[in-house]
Amino acid sequence: MDLSSLATYLSHFTVLEVTIYLLILIPTVYTMVGGAPFVPTQMRQVHRMLDAVPLKKGMKLYDLGSGDGRLVHTASKKYNVEAVGYEYSPLIWLWGKMISPFWRSKAKLKFGNFYRQNLSDADIIVCYLLPGPMKRMRKEIYPRLKKGAIIISHAFHIPELDPLKILPKDKDLKLSPVWIYEKK
Ligand SMILES: C[S@@+](CC[C@H](N)C(=O)[O-])C[C@H]1O[C@@H](n2cnc3c(N)ncnc32)[C@H](O)[C@@H]1O
Repeated sequence: MDLSSLATYLSHFTVLEVTIYLLILIPTVYTMVGGAPFVPTQMRQVHRMLDAVPLKKGMKLYDLGSGDGRLVHTASKKYNVEAVGYEYSPLIWLWGKMISPFWRSKAKLKFGNFYRQNLSDADIIVCYLLPGPMKRMRKEIYPRLKKGAIIISHAFHIPELDPLKILPKDKDLKLSPVWIYEKK
């Protein structure tokens, strides 16, 4: 599409419509390229991930890229932890908020870029992100976590860190491995 065709195309929209469109499009593309597209964790895997560590009432759990919120809702209901999910893709966050009441949990779904959040009080971090963001996790998020904080990563490992535990791939149930780390 050349510039004049683009201008003709855009002339069909008001400034408000283009602004709304861009406000949705820019963070959506950012999360898909810089984090991971929305692919929900299978419920069986959600339980496997959460059951793998000792979760206690009142612990603070964050899901970095919470999608529809299934991990935070399950953690809140099953273990009574204080669960917060950060999601930066507007439509996915909105979908999560819309279905939240059906979960009847106390988990919070916040709109935001998880790289910009203060996670220093996290006891548990859960994530399902691509290898690129896992490198950023190692450099930007891991150093800021408190000692003893646990990271549970679905499918992808964090480079340069020795895992505390690995839940193996389950071919029959089609489950990816889960990587668990402890902040030293
Ligand atoms: C593979 S999905 C996992 C969703 C959910 N955690 C689960 O396991 O079902 C990854 C999610 O991370 C979100 N995401 C990617 N980068 C993000 C960022 N920087 N801040 C917040 N959310 C992000 C994507 O929009 C997507 O919904």
